[in-house]
Amino acid sequence: MTVERAPGYIHTFSPAEQRRLIDQALFLEPYHHTGIDFAGCQSILEVGCGVGAQMSLLLRRWPGARFTGVDQSETQIARARQTLARALAEGRAELHLVPGERLAFKDASFDGACVFWVFEHAPQPLPILREILRVLKPGGVLFATEVFDQALHVFPRSAAIEVYFQAFMALQTEFGGEPNIGIRMPGLLAQAGFSDIAITDVSPTLDARMTEPTARRAFLDYFQTLLLSGSGPLLERGRVKQHVIDGLRQDFARLNDDPAAVFSFGAKQVRGIKPRA
Ligand SMILES: C[S@@+](CC[C@H](N)C(=O)[O-])C[C@H]1O[C@@H](n2cnc3c(N)ncnc32)[C@H](O)[C@@H]1O
Repeated sequence: MTVERAPGYIHTFSPAEQRRLIDQALFLEPYHHTGIDFAGCQSILEVGCGVGAQMSLLLRRWPGARFTGVDQSETQIARARQTLARALAEGRAELHLVPGERLAFKDASFDGACVFWVFEHAPQPLPILREILRVLKPGGVLFATEVFDQALHVFPRSAAIEVYFQAFMALQTEFGGEPNIGIRMPGLLAQAGFSDIAITDVSPTLDARMTEPTARRAFLDYFQTLLLSGSGPLLERGRVKQHVIDGLRQDFARLNDDPAAVFSFGAKQVRGIKPRA
């Protein structure tokens, strides 16, 4: 199997990373899908649908809607065809290999649109937002969920996580992405022409309220895996040393054992409406 070379994509397109996207969408569903309201929407577009992880949740959550996914990566779309095989066969979903900057759809084609974790990797978010606005019907709604990495908070402090995450953000920025794009999203939607813009903090957070050991372990395991999904490119380029990664693993284990620990990962969800003219 050939794996797409992606020098500018920190997470890589490896099969393990594709599986991580499926696990990620499911794990984060309670944080990032409960605020999305597609009531009354019959046709919904997802830009940067990746391997179809979010669309499989959306199909379950919005049974009356039909979904169209686009991604610029052939490898991701091929994997999405497997994830969404049933919905594709039933005609509830379709997939297109196109970039978000050039959506191959007529004006006013969709009632709703959504984007998860794509603008953080896009050197130019505005052309994508303008295309989404074009293909939405007047009154159509966009929900975009994006990272705000500088809000990462770890208590007690972990030097290893801080050093590692700084290197992670720096490399993502070098690749043309923007690790703090979440906080800029309302302004970008306004620049693109959306109205009724609202932003919600949707940062997954572990603190002393989470007492169930399995839930704590799953939460910390998920974020350790997310951070380490960039370890290949970081190690290859000498941006982090192995001892930092070892230290990060030890500190995640310490957080798990500390009932007062806090781990909060910054994320924002923004909603905008296409004006009715
Ligand atoms: C982190 S993955 C997220 C995938 C999916 N949204 C999810 O949450 O599982 C980012 C995806 O955005 C895609 N992508 C990045 N820039 C894009 C663009 N300009 N147009 C279309 N897809 C893009 C990548 O190929 C990748 O599949």
